[in-house]
Amino acid sequence: MIDKINSLKAELETLTAKSEAEVEELRIKYLSKKGAVSLLFNDFRTVPADQKKTIGQALNELKNIATEKINGLREQLSEAESGTESIDLTRTPAIMPLGSRHPLSIVRDEIISIFSRLGFTVAEGPEIEDDWHVFSSLNFAADHPARDMQDTFFIQRNPDVLLRTHTSSVQSRVMEHSQPPIRIICPGRVYRNEAISARAHCFFHQVEALYVDKNVSFADLKQTLLYFAQEMFGPETKIRLRPSYFPFTEPSAEMDISCNLCGGKGCSFCKHTGWVEILGCGMVDPNVLDACGIDSKVYSGFALGMGIERITNLKYQVKDLRMFSENDRRFLEEFQSAH
Ligand code: DAH
Repeated sequence: MIDKINSLKAELETLTAKSEAEVEELRIKYLSKKGAVSLLFNDFRTVPADQKKTIGQALNELKNIATEKINGLREQLSEAESGTESIDLTRTPAIMPLGSRHPLSIVRDEIISIFSRLGFTVAEGPEIEDDWHVFSSLNFAADHPARDMQDTFFIQRNPDVLLRTHTSSVQSRVMEHSQPPIRIICPGRVYRNEAISARAHCFFHQVEALYVDKNVSFADLKQTLLYFAQEMFGPETKIRLRPSYFPFTEPSAEMDISCNLCGGKGCSFCKHTGWVEILGCGMVDPNVLDACGIDSKVYSGFALGMGIERITNLKYQVKDLRMFSENDRRFLEEFQSAH
């Protein structure tokens, strides 16, 4: 009898099952009323009294082993099954948080799109520049205050390597390498040595536009400005030009638009004037054309430059310039629905 018990124990060790049905078969084979283990219990009656204790213990142990084995196989199977079931294909997917474009990118692309409808194409230039492209070619006198250390970031000790302070540098780069007609729009980052505050930053973004051809006149500039202002801020927008001075344009002007917050009636944003300044512009100075290899007796042109932050502030009323570079998601997420 002990031998039978031991051989059954060994047999139980080796059992495996691939399905619930197989487990059930094994249960019947070993543990049902006519199963192998139960039959041994029937034989127990014939065991001599002096062996009953040891054999009884061995039998009980065998029954426990068989029960545990069969339960174990059943659990293994249901675990394996629930593993595949945990992928519920009918579940609604978790909502993916939608990313948003940076407000400066949104506005930059809108400016590009407006000018591209007038035939302007994008041109880009380096942010690390030389004196010639940022200042000298653009008619800045040697002692012009804009070259001052307080404004310009110079790289290394070499005063000829600097971070561009405006995107006008792209004008001279393009004119050096091409002949009119030139119609370009140049977006990019610029740097100035300013203390960071709500109203100033050491880097910001500009868009420069340049049009050079035969017979380009101030009227062309004015019409382009009006088109831009009304496309950007709405068809009701008015523009006004004030005389100004830039080394690279003659005559030069600054453009105001009617305040788009109060419609020109006067509010705290426009300091109760009804107008807000948005860009600088003018007819390209003949000295600049000549310095860049374009014959100023044959060609004329206009240029304009604006700060993207300024336009963005007007469109979205961002009060603090620092918001643009802090990457605060609460701020950026406000532009999710903007196109
Ligand atoms: N470069 C000027 C600035 O940074 C902006 C500017 C003014 C650009 C007049 C122009 C222009 O092309 O004609 O303030």
